Amino acid sequence: MILVTGATGNVGREVVEQLHSMGQRVRVLSRNPEKVQFPDSVEVVTGDLADMETVKPALTGVNKVFLIYISGGEEVPKLAKELGVEHIVFLSSGAIESAIENGIGRMHAEVEELIRQSGVTWTFLRPDAFMSNSLQWAESVRTEGMVRAPFGDVLSVPIDPKDIASVAVKALSSAGHDNEIYTLTGPEALNPEDQAHIIGDVLGKKVAFQSIPEEVARQYMTQHAPEEIVDALFKLMQGTRIKPQPVLDTVERITGKPARTYSQWVKDNAGAFR
Ligand SMILES: NC(=O)c1ccc[n+]([C@@H]2O[C@H](COP(=O)([O-])OP(=O)(O)OC[C@H]3O[C@@H](n4cnc5c(N)ncnc54)[C@H](OP(=O)(O)O)[C@@H]3O)[C@@H](O)[C@H]2O)c1
Repeated sequence: MILVTGATGNVGREVVEQLHSMGQRVRVLSRNPEKVQFPDSVEVVTGDLADMETVKPALTGVNKVFLIYISGGEEVPKLAKELGVEHIVFLSSGAIESAIENGIGRMHAEVEELIRQSGVTWTFLRPDAFMSNSLQWAESVRTEGMVRAPFGDVLSVPIDPKDIASVAVKALSSAGHDNEIYTLTGPEALNPEDQAHIIGDVLGKKVAFQSIPEEVARQYMTQHAPEEIVDALFKLMQGTRIKPQPVLDTVERITGKPARTYSQWVKDNAGAFR
């Protein structure tokens, strides 16, 4: 039995789909499982990763776990080991490898360490920015044909959550991934302006790009996210300026298929931008 956490999220939902289509026994843990219609054979446990009273039944009888980062979930690796879990595939973050130390990297590194100390075998996935982050531009693309973003000059190598899920599924269902760290990127380096143009090409309409001054973006973001996270995001962007993320072939090496392009991701999600 494989427990999938974050199963209603961008990556976890795909992990469930792919494991289920392979015939694997899957259980999910979610605070709001009704958000997603899971296949009938998928066991659903309603619970919170920060509440060990609900995590315990979810982990009982499980031998592998797809784990996401949750503040308050620090006890999960130790409990998993006690309950007989053999392997944890952890959705960590490429922020750990940034040129500038930052809070997002630090939080994920702490959980990696807890997993190492727990005594289970593990696989750590360290993706670059998710392509799905672009959904934050959906409304302005729909209503104004516009993408507004800070750090217009900074290149990232965004990855399709489906590819992260495919790597996770390989690590959960085949041998050879014990205690491996997989740094994951998409197939091309893009800045936000490049992304705006690709969205426009796929939609067949002009999508303009407007750069937001960094201080204006910081003020806006701190109204919607904790200051520590906003600060970490700014440090990450500055770190990427100093040491750009190279394009890596990890997805193809592990899954046998090339990483999906941003254009493919926009086509799959075009409804959100129309
Ligand atoms: N976005 C990026 O660019 C990026 C880059 C590198 C790494 N990451 C990592 O990837 C993670 C996000 O993955 P995603 O995009 O697939 O997630 P997402 O779509 O934002 O979904 C978040 C998931 O977390 C679950 N969750 C939140 N709090 C929970 C709790 N207390 N107990 C149990 N489940 C909880 C939610 O489930 P319910 O609401 O159903 O409980 C949901 O399934 C980030 O948190 C980060 O660690 C992200």
